[in-house]
Amino acid sequence: MKKIVILVSGSGSNLQAIIDACERQQIAGHIVAVISNKADAFALERAKLAHIPSHVISHLDYPSREQFDEAVAKKIAYYQPDLIVLAGYMRILTADFINRYAGKILNIHPSLLPKYPGLNTHHRAIVSGDKEHGTTVHFVTKELDGGPIILQAKVPIFSDDKEQDVIDRVLTQEHQIYPLVIKWFCSDRLIMLNDKAYLDKQEIAAGGYGSDD
Ligand code: GAR
Repeated sequence: MKKIVILVSGSGSNLQAIIDACERQQIAGHIVAVISNKADAFALERAKLAHIPSHVISHLDYPSREQFDEAVAKKIAYYQPDLIVLAGYMRILTADFINRYAGKILNIHPSLLPKYPGLNTHHRAIVSGDKEHGTTVHFVTKELDGGPIILQAKVPIFSDDKEQDVIDRVLTQEHQIYPLVIKWFCSDRLIMLNDKAYLDKQEIAAGGYGSDD
């Protein structure tokens, strides 16, 4: 069983999907800790209900990004995880942190990367007149939202959509694809080598598993 540490900042609906998949034994792993940079993150309630140890490390308590990441890394090291999962974790990681856990950090980002890295992705897709949007699971490298793509899921954007409609549609897909990718990783089917993602020893296409490019 792989040991998983999950970093969160908010509602934690992706955390919940991963908790549920672990409880159903769909993932050969267990969540050993949840760490939030926000004390009021609802994700902490979800961890508590699932009897998972949780910790709050507020970035506001540290003078620099480096010192904050060092504190988070120290807490993570205590658990000796095989995998670190960013699930709505709204902090940019330092290069030191990423190097320390190279090939062991997954992120989910609410856009069809490389489109819309960064924030406000749903709003940007709507105002750009996009007809589709989506979400991406990728390995984390030093390039912000730029690591090798593992899997994407697309959703339509309809002309009468409000932003919340699109957010909800994307989240529904995230709750499917994130547990699936974590399952692959925990079964030793998914690795990152030289900044490329491989599933069952086959290099994953640039647009993610099953894409044409
Ligand atoms: C998710 O949509 C996730 O893709 C996004 O935050 C949301 C968290 O929801 N992550 C990012 O924007 C990271 N840059 P959740 O707390 O309900 O899982």
